[in-house]
Amino acid sequence: MFLVTGATGSLGRRIVRSLCRRGESVRAFVRLEARYADLEQLGAEIFIGDLCHRELIERALQGVRYVISAHGSGPGGNVSQVDYQANIDLIEAAQKQAVDHFVFVSVLGADRYYDDAPVFKAKREVEKYLSRHSLPYTILRPSGFASDLLARARNFERTGFYLLIGRKENRTSIVSTDDLSEIAIHCVSLPEARNRTFAVGGPESLRRDEIPCIFEKVFNRAGQILHLPIEVFDAARSLIGLVNPAIGRDLGTLRVLLANEYTCDPHEVQQVFSIELESLHHFLRRNLQFST
Ligand SMILES: NC(=O)c1ccc[n+]([C@@H]2O[C@H](COP(=O)([O-])OP(=O)(O)OC[C@H]3O[C@@H](n4cnc5c(N)ncnc54)[C@H](OP(=O)(O)O)[C@@H]3O)[C@@H](O)[C@H]2O)c1
Repeated sequence: MFLVTGATGSLGRRIVRSLCRRGESVRAFVRLEARYADLEQLGAEIFIGDLCHRELIERALQGVRYVISAHGSGPGGNVSQVDYQANIDLIEAAQKQAVDHFVFVSVLGADRYYDDAPVFKAKREVEKYLSRHSLPYTILRPSGFASDLLARARNFERTGFYLLIGRKENRTSIVSTDDLSEIAIHCVSLPEARNRTFAVGGPESLRRDEIPCIFEKVFNRAGQILHLPIEVFDAARSLIGLVNPAIGRDLGTLRVLLANEYTCDPHEVQQVFSIELESLHHFLRRNLQFST
């Protein structure tokens, strides 16, 4: 039995669907108000709860052999409770249950000590905690998810505009969320993935201003980039921080994402997981066709 947290998120949903299609038994940890009927229909066992409650985590772990931690606090969420403490509680409960493998979805750059980015710091601390345990694990550090660009692509199709904040020249290896889902599942059965950390990006190292060019190709229409220098973001963040210091701090994670390069060499992952990584263009064509 797999336990997947964040089962209604972009990544977790893909993992649960893929496990169900393979005939694996899977327990999806979901919140009551989330949309999970499709997962239930596919055969997933639904466990309703909030990851901020340790006793629920312990209950969800009963009879579980593999854990895939794919939840995240998201914008405005509680980083210390969700990104940090819930993972510590999951690791503790998994250790008690002697689960066979724990997969933790971290973030590319977690090891770069971005002091201003609460999510990166939380991920780094969880990584350290997990690697100190005797529990077999794999840490995946993905770059930005291609699925996060679907809404922006649809907006581009409608308006022709693409908002780009920060340096256009910065490079990013956007990863197909479907590839990442397959990699997360393979970790538990691949001896070469045991107790290792992998940076997971896509096959291309794209300049950020190449993304709207890919949208142009997908939709066969010309577009326009609306460019905002990072200084404008910083000024807005300072103002917001005066009114609401918590939101100002949270925006630190977004700033790190906007202001830095997110690239990694795809060869190691391609070799270890025997996977041909999908380009952003291919992911968008496939997903825009089928998603609603
Ligand atoms: N998106 C990216 O570009 C990116 C890049 C690198 C790493 N990551 C990491 O990859 C993981 C998955 O990201 P994602 O984009 O798929 O996330 P997502 O779409 O934002 O989904 C987050 C999931 O976590 C669940 N969740 C949040 N708080 C919860 C709580 N208190 N109790 C139970 N469930 C809770 C959400 O449930 P609801 O549906 O109820 O809200 C949702 O299922 C995260 O750890 C993220 O940090 C993401």
